[in-house]
Amino acid sequence: MLDVAVLVSGRGSNLQALIDACESQDFPARIVVVISNNPDAYGLKRAKAANIPTSVINHRDFDTREDFEEAIDLELKKYKSKFLCLAGFMRILDARFVNRWKDRILNIHPSLLPSFKGLHTQERALESGVRFTGCTVHIVRPEMDDGPIILQAALAIDPDDNADTLSAKVLELEHIIYPEALKLIALGRVRVSASKAVIEKASYPSGGLVSPEIIN
Ligand code: GAR
Repeated sequence: MLDVAVLVSGRGSNLQALIDACESQDFPARIVVVISNNPDAYGLKRAKAANIPTSVINHRDFDTREDFEEAIDLELKKYKSKFLCLAGFMRILDARFVNRWKDRILNIHPSLLPSFKGLHTQERALESGVRFTGCTVHIVRPEMDDGPIILQAALAIDPDDNADTLSAKVLELEHIIYPEALKLIALGRVRVSASKAVIEKASYPSGGLVSPEIIN
């Protein structure tokens, strides 16, 4: 069983997808704590409703990023967390922290990385005229929205789509691939090198939603 901490800043719908997955008996990970930098994050309510310990570590209470991250680190130790999932956690983690947790932090991002890092991904996808958008679960590296890709899900952009409709469609895919990626990791099926992750061949595909490299 992999003991996981989830870091959130807001709504927490991906957290909910992870909570739901962890509730199934044969899921190989469990959430030991949910940490938020935002005291008003709705994700905290979701955690409480699922009887998961919560902790608020407000970045505004710290003079430096290093002190903020040190406080997170202490909390992770307190709950004996072995792995971190960023689920809409909107603070940049610095290289020191990321390297301390090397290959043990997972992030979800609403684009087909390495395209459209950062914010407003669906607006930028529409502006650029790409035909597909989607989401990516990846191992975190010190650069923002960068690191070995575990799973991606893509969808074709409809001419009638706007940023809101696309975000909603992509979010549905996020809720599928995030638990799936965590499961693969918890089962020890992922080998991570500096820039790439390889997934041991398993009982895939799941509806063509996953990276081509694991479908063959
Ligand atoms: C999600 O769409 C997630 O992919 C995105 O924030 C949203 C959080 O929603 N993350 C990033 O943009 C990270 N760069 P949620 O709080 O409902 O899970």
